[in-house]
Order: sequence, then structure tokens, then C-alpha cells
Amino acid sequence: MNILLTGGTGYIGSHTAVELAMRGYNVILLDNLENSSEKVVDQIAAISGVRCAFVKGDVRDRFLVKGILREHQIDAVIHFAGLKSVSDSVSDPLSYYSTNFVGTVELVAAMSEEKVFRLIFSSSATVYGTPSRLPVDEHHPTNPLNPYGRSKLHVEEFLHDVANASSGWSIVCLRYFNPAGAHESGLIGEKPTSRPNNLLPVISEVASGQRKKLDVYGDDYDTADGTGVRDFIHVMDLAGGHEAALRFANKNSGVTTFNLGTGLGYSVLEMVRSYERASGQSIPIEFAQRRSGDVASCYADTSKAGNLLNWKATRTLEDMCASSWRYTKAQ
Ligand SMILES: NC(=O)c1ccc[n+]([C@@H]2O[C@H](COP(=O)([O-])OP(=O)(O)OC[C@H]3O[C@@H](n4cnc5c(N)ncnc54)[C@H](O)[C@@H]3O)[C@@H](O)[C@H]2O)c1
Repeated sequence: MNILLTGGTGYIGSHTAVELAMRGYNVILLDNLENSSEKVVDQIAAISGVRCAFVKGDVRDRFLVKGILREHQIDAVIHFAGLKSVSDSVSDPLSYYSTNFVGTVELVAAMSEEKVFRLIFSSSATVYGTPSRLPVDEHHPTNPLNPYGRSKLHVEEFLHDVANASSGWSIVCLRYFNPAGAHESGLIGEKPTSRPNNLLPVISEVASGQRKKLDVYGDDYDTADGTGVRDFIHVMDLAGGHEAALRFANKNSGVTTFNLGTGLGYSVLEMVRSYERASGQSIPIEFAQRRSGDVASCYADTSKAGNLLNWKATRTLEDMCASSWRYTKAQ
């Protein structure tokens, strides 16, 4: 199968490219390199032994995307290309709606015109907002608290409208919880071009001495140690979830939504201690005010993905920290 990965040189895209290439899929990468580097294409080849075709370009460029779909006879698209910083989305909603929403509209228009009807979309657990019950299943009400989350929810709603209007579509929305870690080789990992937002890249900067301390936002949440609890999922488990979603999309039509997480909640402090053990470095922390919009605990009910995708995350918090540290040391 020929699979186009938009945002394919990014963090989750590159790990999924490795997973798919090693399972015999023909992978084509499209990325404008806004938050990644072309070197990743070499690293994917070094790990998988397969050189993926790479196109530098913007997912909003319908003419370009149509050309790729035609030239490579694409069977399905996994749509990672997007912006993902909650705080940036508050200060610059225009960019977030343009890239995340307009980008998907243009992609779907190109797919429709070229008659490619299988799509896997990178959504986010952010669409749930503050959980009213735990674990969070796919029926939990959606109430995103920021423009980033709303841009993802608007895309999901748009995809439902598209599939309702035409029966040929097969669309899977994957709501990721908190992707973390790196490929076991240490050759690819999370490498934002600007200041990182996710917890593990910040911890890794402290462990490697690039940053003095980790600010922990809130020590008075209603959790075992007072710090926020999240469902961290190893990025290679997440990559495997995309392959399972592709197989599902080959057999099912309409739109189906899945949580991808582990179902386990770990606190920020548990993550810090685990990283200290994996790296042998001490990670100084400083408690700071809670950030608005942060919730105390959020973790997934993963039974739908288990039942329908036959997929389950298997890697541990230790695996996430050890692989992240291996990647950090190799930089
Ligand atoms: N990492 C997370 O914590 C997380 C959680 C939930 C959902 N997601 C979603 O998963 C997807 C992938 O996330 P990631 O962590 O790999 O992020 P990333 O920034 O590492 O990857 C996204 C890639 O898309 C590219 N890109 C951005 N705008 C583009 C455009 N207009 N045209 C073409 N390429 C473009 C970037 O250069 C980057 O390589 C995103 O849509 C993100 O919103 C991520």
C-alpha cells in the first residue's frame, strides 16, 4: 500500500514512517519543515533500511497534494501536519486555524478530487477539556479549552460532515493522549525547532544540562503527590496504533474515533523520578503556579482501540524515559 504521511518528518510522523516502512508499506513524506528537519528522512532510512520519498511543501497547497496523490498512487493518507502548542494557539489562533483546519480542508479536497478516500487524522485528547469522569472514553463530552483543541474538534466535525455527504469515505480520528519517548535506536525523537512544550523534551533538556530546572505547574492538585497526572504513551506504541488504524480503515467506512493511550495515569513527579533513574542525572524542579486550562488528571479508556483495532500499548514509563535519554545523548 502507498501511504502519504503529511507532517511526516515530525515527531509522531517519523516514528510512524519507520513502523510502516518496516512492515512493508510504501511511505511518502510531505512536510514544510516548519517544526522538523530533512535529516529525519536519512534517519528513517538508517533505521528501516528503506528510503521514503520526501516532498517539501505545504499541506494547504491543494495543487501540490493532488500531484503527490496521483504520482505515487496513494491509497491512504495519515494526516499529522499541524501546529500543537496550546499557548501559541491562544496568542496566534489564526495560524492554528489556518494550518490545522484549512490544512485539513485543502487536503480532503485534494483527496476527494483524486478519489483517495482513506484518511487517518491526528486528533488529540485536548478535545475533551476537563474530564468529568475517568478514565475518559470516546463518548465523554467534548469541550476543548483553547484554540488548539477547538481546531482539532472542528476538524473532526468537518470530517463527519464529509463522510455523511458521501458514503465512500473511510476516516479514523485518533485522539492521542500524551506521546513520549523516542525510537529505541536513539536516531529519531522529539526535536522541536523552537522551545519545547511537552514534558519529556523539557525534562531531557534539564537532564542534559541545557536548562537549569524543571518548572512543575501546580503541587496542590487532587492527586496522590499533588502534581498533574497524565496518560503518557510511548511514541512507538502510538506508531503501531496508526498501522492498526490503517488496517481498520481498509475494512470499515464512515468516521470512527479512537483514544490512543495506555489507560494508566502517571504524575509529573513520577515521570521526573523515572527519568532520573533512566539517565542517572538529577533533575532539579521548582514548583510554580498552576497554568490555566490544565486539568488535575486525564487518562484514557482504551478498550475501544483494544476491541476494534486489536491494538494495545505495551511499553512502560521506563521505556519512554530510557529511549528519550538515548536520543538526547545522541544529539
Ligand atoms: N505530540 C503531542 O503531544 C500530540 C498530542 C496530540 C495530538 N498531536 C497531533 O499530532 C500531529 C503530529 O504531532 P507531532 O508531535 O508529531 O508534531 P510535530 O510538530 O513534531 O510534527 C508536525 C509536522 O507537521 C509539519 N507541518 C506543520 N505545518 C505544516 C504545513 N502547513 N504543511 C506541511 N507540514 C506542516 C511540521 O514541520 C512538523 O514536521 C499534530 O497534528 C498534533 O497536533 C500531537
